[in-house]
Amino acid sequence: MRKKIIAGNWKMNMTFDEGQKLTSEIVNMFKDEAVKDVIAVLNPPFPHIFPVKKLIGDTPGIALGAQNCSAMESGAFTGEVSAKILASFGVQYVILGHSERREYFKEDNELLALKVKQALAHGLTPIFCCGESLEIRMAGTHESNVKFQLTESLFDLSPEDMAKVVIAYEPIWAIGTGKTATADQAQEMHAALRRHIASKFGKELANNTSILYGGSANPGNAKELFSKEDVDGGLIGGASLKSRDFIDITKSF
Ligand code: PGA
Repeated sequence: MRKKIIAGNWKMNMTFDEGQKLTSEIVNMFKDEAVKDVIAVLNPPFPHIFPVKKLIGDTPGIALGAQNCSAMESGAFTGEVSAKILASFGVQYVILGHSERREYFKEDNELLALKVKQALAHGLTPIFCCGESLEIRMAGTHESNVKFQLTESLFDLSPEDMAKVVIAYEPIWAIGTGKTATADQAQEMHAALRRHIASKFGKELANNTSILYGGSANPGNAKELFSKEDVDGGLIGGASLKSRDFIDITKSF
């Protein structure tokens, strides 16, 4: 059975104190409200990694993630953080290929393939993001566009490695805009991605791959999105910065 995952993407938000407060609240609510059958992944900016890890402790169901890692193993790459370093700090997940990194930092499918391999080599679970722009959606080529992102960055992996990857479908036009994809639009793309994965790696692996939806997901629309057969959770930006909203989303299955 595939895992249900709610990953909070804090992006470049939260000072030290704010991050401590948010994490403590999330951990306490998660325990007090006995949230279960879901993995909540907190993905703070790098400096928060260690203090957030301490607050999470061994809380069942809460995991720690990062928002990026280097495509390089180690060495003279000033300002970069490797998968190896992250793993040594107890990080379990890493978001790769977010559209903001593709757009603002010019990360392409080829570079992302290297990052995915680094993550897997050090035992991190990549949350691999894909998604189309509004222009591509209007042109009607969104499905082939998003499939291509997977082909280029993931289809070189061994089945053993591919089985560890989590996919996040995030239509760019829905990120931070308050304009969420409809549950039917999400389902249509998730099913297409699952068929695409099956065409290369087989049905069983595809059926066990968690595919998350991202883009203005919130406590008001999460239930409908997660009711769809192929939507296995969410990658949450804005709403992950509010403990109540984030916890309510984890309870929306
Ligand atoms: P949003 O961001 O929920 O604020 O739209 C989602 C994301 O970019 O991961």
